[in-house]
Amino acid sequence: MSGVPQSNPQKSPQKTFYLETFGCQMNVHDSEKVIGTLVQEGYRQVESVEQADLVLYNTCSIRDKAEQKVFNRLSDYKKYKKQGKMFGVLGCVAQQEGEKIFERAPYVSLVAGSASYNNLPQMLQQLEEAELAAREKASLRDDAAVVTTTESTREAGLPPRDAGLVRITGLDDRETDKCFETEFTARSNPHRGYITIIEGCDKFCAYCVVPYTRGKERSRTSESVLAEARQMAHLGYTEIQLLGQNVNSYKDPAGNSSARKTFAELLAAVGEVPGIRRVRFTTSHPRDFGRDIVDAIDAVPALCDHVHLPVQSGSTRVLDAMQRLYTRDQYLERIAWMKAAKREISITTDVIVGFPGETEADFAETLDLLEEVGYDAVFAFKYSPRPNTPSLKLDDAIPDAEKARRLEVLMARQREIQITRYKKYIGTKCEVMVEGRNEARAQWIGRTSHNKTLNFTAPETANPKPGAYVPVIVTGSFPNSLLGELVI
Ligand code: 5AD
Ligand code: SF4
Repeated sequence: MSGVPQSNPQKSPQKTFYLETFGCQMNVHDSEKVIGTLVQEGYRQVESVEQADLVLYNTCSIRDKAEQKVFNRLSDYKKYKKQGKMFGVLGCVAQQEGEKIFERAPYVSLVAGSASYNNLPQMLQQLEEAELAAREKASLRDDAAVVTTTESTREAGLPPRDAGLVRITGLDDRETDKCFETEFTARSNPHRGYITIIEGCDKFCAYCVVPYTRGKERSRTSESVLAEARQMAHLGYTEIQLLGQNVNSYKDPAGNSSARKTFAELLAAVGEVPGIRRVRFTTSHPRDFGRDIVDAIDAVPALCDHVHLPVQSGSTRVLDAMQRLYTRDQYLERIAWMKAAKREISITTDVIVGFPGETEADFAETLDLLEEVGYDAVFAFKYSPRPNTPSLKLDDAIPDAEKARRLEVLMARQREIQITRYKKYIGTKCEVMVEGRNEARAQWIGRTSHNKTLNFTAPETANPKPGAYVPVIVTGSFPNSLLGELVI
């Protein structure tokens, strides 16, 4: 694990790869691990498809639009294939569509889900060997072979079948206990980094494809999470974000029960690692969100005063249909815990509008919940029917235009809420981590512990460095950000 690893000179350094990532922070972090692994294998990362030998897409299938993106990218790649480039589809679309991807995008050579990334070096080696063999015989055949990298074929050392198109699939059955842990993570930011603590999800919300793409829940030991946190602190990182589809259902697999930590204990322990100044976590599930998390935020100053707690709907009836396992009142109980915290905790959420059967009255309850909670940000989505999910069987009775209308109404209401909430910061002093500079606006970009963007001006002599923590006085506000001046 390091910042940006150098390619390994022992292994042919001329191979190049291009990687584009879609979707959530889990995917972004998986890509950091893929990059680290490939660089270790002698590949060099490049900025465009044109420059690359190997082109990888780390995909998202949470909503239909996200899924379409990768097929749009792959729609016109015949010319690149002729140049000898290899294409791979990784992540959730790969896991969901499997070998069907080869039908929809015939120039793809590698399809691998996130549970099988541990085998990426072997898969690529197999692919390269097979490509070489295939090219030698390309003039003789033009049919396709599918090589599946199961444990048994690898162990048996079976050579891949040669053919015009070589195809490798690394599609784990998602029952694996393996997490994608690697010492070769290429973190893209030298100050702030992710650590995965739990992979997969066992919640099976009615609309959600994640349990089918990322598989069952499996946690890393608190010991290995803490070792990674300490190593990051040693490398100069000061902010850590603990990642998982549902971090609150973290179960420490440590053998020794005295060493076993709950999620709140792990959170506190990461916050106490010397050198670590900020710890965030995402995503939480309200059902598993315990009061002990708020207690930990109260007790450990390094734990950021921000919680992302997706509600999805303000109507208990819809929550029930979504199989979310909590009611509106139970959700509000968790909000009350946070509102009673010593520091003001900034709360953000996700909402789905137009879930099958959502009535105007249900939707009104969601709008009402926005007011009641007072969120600092809402990520709202139109319901999108996904393959394999239970809600696919429900009548998707709400027309797209109506979903779009509800989305617009919700976002407009939330904008008003944010305008009021963000205004309240004017005149207060916030500590920000400097993220960079916007030259066009002659402003520095900072982030508060609340996870708000605070753009600020500073005298030229001050020259704050990215990664530094500086005090800023808030002088203005917008619906999604704050404006301020460096305090000298
Ligand atoms: N349709 C619309 N939004 C969805 N999300 C998950 N699945 C769907 C779907 N089928 C949203 C939820 C989740 C966020 C990551 O994506 O709000 O919290
Ligand atoms: Fe999907 Fe629900 Fe699991 Fe979140 S908790 S990943 S919404 S199934």
